[in-house]
Amino acid sequence: MFEIVNNRQVIFGENKISDIPSLLKWYGCKKVFFATYSSSADSYHKIAGLLEEAGIGHVCYDQVAGEPDLHMINGGRDIFLAEGCDCTLALGGGSVIDTAKAIGMLAVNGGNVEDYQMNGKQVTAVPPLFIAVPTTSGTGAEATKTSVVLNNYNGLKKSLYHTTMIADIVILDPTLTTGLPRHITAATGMDALSHAIESYVSLNASPLTEMYGLKAIELINKSLKDACDDPQNLKARGDMMLGSYLGGLAITAGIGIAHIMAQPLGAMYKIPHGDACSIFLPAAMELNMDHAEARYARIAEALGVAEPESTDQENARRAVARVRAIREEIGAPVCLAPYIKETPDMDFIIDTVKKTTGHITCNPCPLTEQLMKDAFEKAMEQ
Ligand SMILES: NC(=O)c1ccc[n+]([C@@H]2O[C@H](COP(=O)([O-])OP(=O)(O)OC[C@H]3O[C@@H](n4cnc5c(N)ncnc54)[C@H](O)[C@@H]3O)[C@@H](O)[C@H]2O)c1
Ligand SMILES: [Fe+2]
Repeated sequence: MFEIVNNRQVIFGENKISDIPSLLKWYGCKKVFFATYSSSADSYHKIAGLLEEAGIGHVCYDQVAGEPDLHMINGGRDIFLAEGCDCTLALGGGSVIDTAKAIGMLAVNGGNVEDYQMNGKQVTAVPPLFIAVPTTSGTGAEATKTSVVLNNYNGLKKSLYHTTMIADIVILDPTLTTGLPRHITAATGMDALSHAIESYVSLNASPLTEMYGLKAIELINKSLKDACDDPQNLKARGDMMLGSYLGGLAITAGIGIAHIMAQPLGAMYKIPHGDACSIFLPAAMELNMDHAEARYARIAEALGVAEPESTDQENARRAVARVRAIREEIGAPVCLAPYIKETPDMDFIIDTVKKTTGHITCNPCPLTEQLMKDAFEKAMEQ
C-alpha cells in the first residue's frame, strides 16, 4: 500500500521562467503573491518585467529572512489578503517555497499557521494556484506537500502538510542556480542526497520512491562536485536540479534518522538544514547498516562504487565511504561540534527530537533514545 502526490506540471529547461506569464494567463490569474529570496536578484527582476509586459500585477514578498517561522508566514498571509492576490509564486530555496506554500493555504483556510502545525486544524479548502521555482538544489520542497516551519513560541521546527498544498506547477530552470555560492551548493546538495538515500532505505519505500531515489543518487553523485567547482556548468546545475526534485519525490517515503536529528538540532543550534543533513548522513548510514545492508549495497551501485564480486556488507560500506568522500570533495560540513557553544543537555535534546519527529517509524533501525544518542555522538566526533 502506498500513496504519492505529484505536481500537475513540471517544466525543465534553461530560461523556462519565461513561460510564467502565459501559464498565469491560462489560469486566469490577475494578481500574483510573488515570494522571493531577494528582490534585488536578476531573476526576480526578469520575472517581474515579464509579468508587467503581460499585464499581470504582483506584490513582492521578500521577508523570508532565514528558514521560515510563524511571523514570516502569518505576515505574508496578511499581505496576500490585503493586496487581493489570486495565486502564489515562489522563487527561492526551500525557505521561500515552504513559506509561500503555507501562505497560499492560509489565505483560503483561515487561522494562523500554528493552528495547523500544532493544534490539528484541518485544511478544508483548495489553495490558489501555486507555482514553485526553486533556486537551490536541495530540499525538493517543490515536489512535496509539506511546509517545515519554526514555531517561535516553543522553538520546535515542525511540518504542516496537506495533499492540496503541493505546487501545481514547478519550473526547474538550471540558469537560476549558477549564482548560488559554493557552500550553499554543497550543503543543499547533501540535503538532496540525504533525501535520496534515506528514502531508499525507508521501511515505507515504494517502487516509485525507490526509482526516484536511485536516479537522484546517480545524478547527484555525478554532478555535485562539478556544480561546486564550476558554478556556470549548466549540465551539472541541471543534474542537481533534477536530482533534488527527484529526491523530493522520493522522501515522501519518510525521513530517517539523519533528518530526524537534523531538523530539531538545526532549529536548536541555528544550523542551516543542508549543513545539518551533511553532518548526520554518513552517521545515519552506519547506524542503519545492519538493518538495511542489501539496500545500501544497491545504493553503492547507484554511487558507482559497488564491486560485483563483493558481499552486500562490503558494498554497503563502500556506499558510506563514497558519501564521506563526496562530502570531503565539496567541503560540506562534517561535524556538529563547531555549532555547539555550551555542553549539550542530552535529556533536553532527546526530548526535543521526540517532540518534533520522534514519532516517525520508517527508519530501518528502530528509533530508540539510544539510537538518537548514538547519532548525536557520531555527529560530534566526525
Ligand atoms: N518542504 C519540504 O519538503 C522540505 C524538505 C526539506 C527541507 N525543507 C526546508 O527548506 C529550508 C531550507 O531550504 P534551502 O536549503 O533550499 O535553503 P534556503 O531557501 O534557506 O536558502 C539558503 C540561502 O541561499 C540563498 N539563495 C537561495 N537561492 C539563491 C540563489 N540562486 N543565488 C544566491 N543565493 C540564493 C537564500 O537567500 C538563503 O540565504 C529549511 O527550512 C528546511 O527545513 C523543506
Ligand atoms: Fe531535507
